Amino acid sequence: MPRVPTVQDVPARLLLGSGPSPVPERILKALAHPTVGHLDPAFGALQDDVAALLRATMKTTNKVTFPLSATGSGGMQAMVDTLVAPGDRVVVGVHGAFGGRMADALGRAGADVVKVEAEWGRALSVDALIEACADSSTRALFVVHGETSTGVAQPLDGLAEAVHAHDGLFLVDCVTSLAGHPLDLDAAGVDAAFSGTQKCLNVPPGLAPFTVGDRALGRLQRRSWYFDLQAMVDYWFADGPRAYHHTAPINMIYALHEGLRIVEEEGLAARWDRHARAHEALRAAFSVLGFERFAPDGEQLHSLLAVRVPESIDEAAVRGALLREDGIEVSGGLGPLAGRAWRIGVMGEGARQEPQERLIRAVTRRTNGDEHAAVRALADGWAAA
Ligand SMILES: Cc1ncc(COP(=O)(O)O)c(C=O)c1O
Repeated sequence: MPRVPTVQDVPARLLLGSGPSPVPERILKALAHPTVGHLDPAFGALQDDVAALLRATMKTTNKVTFPLSATGSGGMQAMVDTLVAPGDRVVVGVHGAFGGRMADALGRAGADVVKVEAEWGRALSVDALIEACADSSTRALFVVHGETSTGVAQPLDGLAEAVHAHDGLFLVDCVTSLAGHPLDLDAAGVDAAFSGTQKCLNVPPGLAPFTVGDRALGRLQRRSWYFDLQAMVDYWFADGPRAYHHTAPINMIYALHEGLRIVEEEGLAARWDRHARAHEALRAAFSVLGFERFAPDGEQLHSLLAVRVPESIDEAAVRGALLREDGIEVSGGLGPLAGRAWRIGVMGEGARQEPQERLIRAVTRRTNGDEHAAVRALADGWAAA
């Protein structure tokens, strides 16, 4: 008797939730390319190109820029384990679930965590963050650039100067913003950042793009065996033979390479513009249906639209029917937004008119909305300059 279920029993979905995002055929093909050894020189040449493409996408000249063998949370853990020592005073911006997770991780690692908070759905006050960094014992400042729990983008201007004044590090989570929302890590003075592959890069989950600049490299801790950044530098950036630390996830690195090539072909600026347009078009269509965005104008994260679900709609039931019957995934709210919000990904291949129209048509049918008006609002949004 054949085993049931098999992978073939998992249906294809249109992934318009908070991640993972739609994976294009090109990337799936790269993933299926024959596996080679992790010390094969041919693979080494590809690794060098992944690092170069990642530098261009993250807008950094940091030599140490590579994908950690972990999901985005592993990137966060690596940042904690390698750049923060027990007792360090670390200012952490918390305006949603992911800033909260970092505060938790730092606390468990023995850091002296100083939280600066904002209401969910709003950006953090830059002045409040700067003020919290005024204490000369501050060793680091951490913020989430794209808060996936609320769809808010955090302004970074002025933060690097505040924390660098006492030789502290500026640390950033760019999991949901990378390649979808404008971000120039070097211009923002960021010392280290981590991301994930399953958002705007349209690569399956499993790698955490990571970058570390010279100031941070001077403070490397080697407390974690797995997240030993020096060991990874000796593998990724060795002058001579690459030194084995752990077996790199070869096929995921193939997939990331293809994803980064797609970003390069489109051009980062054009990609950011497309995400901005896709976000506004989708927002307009949802607004016709009575779903309003949480983030105020100017604070929106282009790659994620978080909307308040009208009280007349049973959000969990509609969301469940969208998945099961229409094959479309959107995400519900987290924390205080649970039961009140939908989070819709506007990520890479998901930031296009055709998948958005499929979603809008399905939602209008399930909520008795004005399908014609909503689809027209979407099209008008895409047509706008
Ligand atoms: C902003 C942010 N940070 C960190 C993470 C954690 O990444 P992962 O789920 O890949 O471990 C996520 C995942 O959604 C995220 O959105």
